[in-house]
Amino acid sequence: MNRQTLILGIETSCDETAAAVVARSATGSGRILANVVRSQWEAHRAFGGVVPEIAARAHAECLDLLIEEALAQSGCALADLDAIAATAGPGLVGGLIVGLVTGKALALAARKPFLAINHLEAHALTIGLTSGLRPPYLLLLVSGGHTQTLLVEGVGRYRRLGTTIDDALGEAFDKTAKLLGLGQPGGPAVERLAALGNAARFDLPRPLKGRVEPHFSFAGLKTAVRRQAIALQPLKDDDIADLCASFQAAVADAVTDRCARAIDLAAQLSADPLRHFVVAGGVAANIRLRADLAGLASARGLSFHVAPVALCGDNAAMIAWAGAERFALGWVDGLDAPVRPRWPLDPSALPALGSGLKGAKA
Ligand code: KG4
Ligand code: ZN
Repeated sequence: MNRQTLILGIETSCDETAAAVVARSATGSGRILANVVRSQWEAHRAFGGVVPEIAARAHAECLDLLIEEALAQSGCALADLDAIAATAGPGLVGGLIVGLVTGKALALAARKPFLAINHLEAHALTIGLTSGLRPPYLLLLVSGGHTQTLLVEGVGRYRRLGTTIDDALGEAFDKTAKLLGLGQPGGPAVERLAALGNAARFDLPRPLKGRVEPHFSFAGLKTAVRRQAIALQPLKDDDIADLCASFQAAVADAVTDRCARAIDLAAQLSADPLRHFVVAGGVAANIRLRADLAGLASARGLSFHVAPVALCGDNAAMIAWAGAERFALGWVDGLDAPVRPRWPLDPSALPALGSGLKGAKA
């Protein structure tokens, strides 16, 4: 194949409806031609969280328009595409069905190959699109539904090292924001106020810090914030800012400790010396977390990589790119590809001891 491939990506796994067109050159570099994202937060605001049925309907209402917009922005017609990629999981089943069926219908009508994409794989490979980095690397994936460290050995080859035993990190940010009366999504709201607060005022726990297994836990931290908030009632603006700053500092500290353990483990497991540390997913937008993890990488002699903020959160450029990478390997999927609400990147990984129920996004 000596020309570029053009891939349409479709993302509907949670509360962002997105369509994008990405070009992949014969040498493997990527370029975003269009990247359209519509967030549904307004539709869910009154409920304080994502309502699956509302999410599915909202995707169905605008996905065709977004695809039209992405194609127009990219200057491509359907006939120009080489393949169509849609998220098949993991995520909320109603939304996944909307995106997957739309992608299949377009592929059938335009006679194009179809790719059913794992949303987590798309987060994991985004750094190849934005900075050209190729596996192997150690990945911290932190989003609203997932918190994992993975050894990314190649496209389709992932070894999970650590995972959360309770809440995902983004979920912990969202729940903390909710209990402090802040808007959703909670991560950016907590980060904004943390910048105004005193991180040393509250001594919050660093769950699992020092443990040998590189797992994560955030439920206890969130409960500690709740206890402080109740003790301080009525909360003043300063109290809220100090709680946000103390929470964010505890998170950064705990996650950095857990990633240090994952780096040790990855070094033992990988055949070649570990050279790169990548952070992906919505929470990778957090500046304090990025700074602490960059410090860890540098202390361990690893290069540090994180995608631009706009591509940390859910988007369809990452879906198109994962599709392009798989397509370049000659992999395509049938039109009978199922939705997979649960779809771990490393199916052989055991559940972390003590893990319990996960949130709606898990
Ligand atoms: O990857 P993503 O867009 O969606 C999922 O796949 O879940 O991640 C969304 C999560 C939300 O929980 C949101 O609060 C969190 O990422 N987030 C942040 C920041 N921006 C988004 N968390 C902390 N700091 C941020 N700046
Ligand atoms: Zn995501």
